[in-house]
Amino acid sequence: MNELILMQGCPGSGKSRMAEVLRQYYENLEVEAQIYSADRFWYECVGDDKGRYDFVPELRYRAHQWCQQGVLGAMKIGIPVIIVDNTNTTKKEAVPYRVMANLFDYAVHVVRVDPGVEECIRRQASRPEDRRVPEDIIRTMHGRLETLIPDEPDFLLFNTPWSKLTAPFEDDTNTK
Ligand SMILES: Nc1ncnc2c1ncn2[C@@H]1O[C@H](COP(=O)(O)OP(=O)(O)OP(=O)(O)O)[C@@H](O)[C@H]1O
Ligand SMILES: [Mg+2]
Repeated sequence: MNELILMQGCPGSGKSRMAEVLRQYYENLEVEAQIYSADRFWYECVGDDKGRYDFVPELRYRAHQWCQQGVLGAMKIGIPVIIVDNTNTTKKEAVPYRVMANLFDYAVHVVRVDPGVEECIRRQASRPEDRRVPEDIIRTMHGRLETLIPDEPDFLLFNTPWSKLTAPFEDDTNTK
């Protein structure tokens, strides 16, 4: 059965890194896995410089629609593993993906990445200024992390120090 993996976690928790670890894991098994993220919208769809992070708060909804459309396209052509690299802190955020998974018969898994709120805040310091999320927003998001799928047997919780999983990547995703 095809699989939809919903990453969940605060900014700085390590979702993008974990998503890439998962993608590589599947690649080694010769299974195609694609990552979709609303965050890519700011690089690819806003502003003149396609490599620059142009965040426009009013377009947040569009960013999520764009991400959902990407996932829809991937499901239509039957990509075997689709990873949604968004914060997904509330059930509401995950609903469109769960509906699509239902329609296209994808099994849904949630990978929560949570090194603790203080660590998420600490990691903001090393980010470029335009990628930093204010401390109060991170605290709010961390406080409202909802269980996305109650009674989900495959709910995975990753809280493992990076070094225990694999060697760090050479290019740090955090610098983007
Ligand atoms: N398991 C880990 N142990 C130590 N450092 C980590 C771990 N996972 C990620 N990091 C580091 O934490 C920072 C944030 O990681 P990452 O960009 O993956 O977070 P994110 O959850 O995707 O954030 P955002 O929601 O803002 O995109 C990076 O500098 C990364 O190198
Ligand atoms: Mg990320």
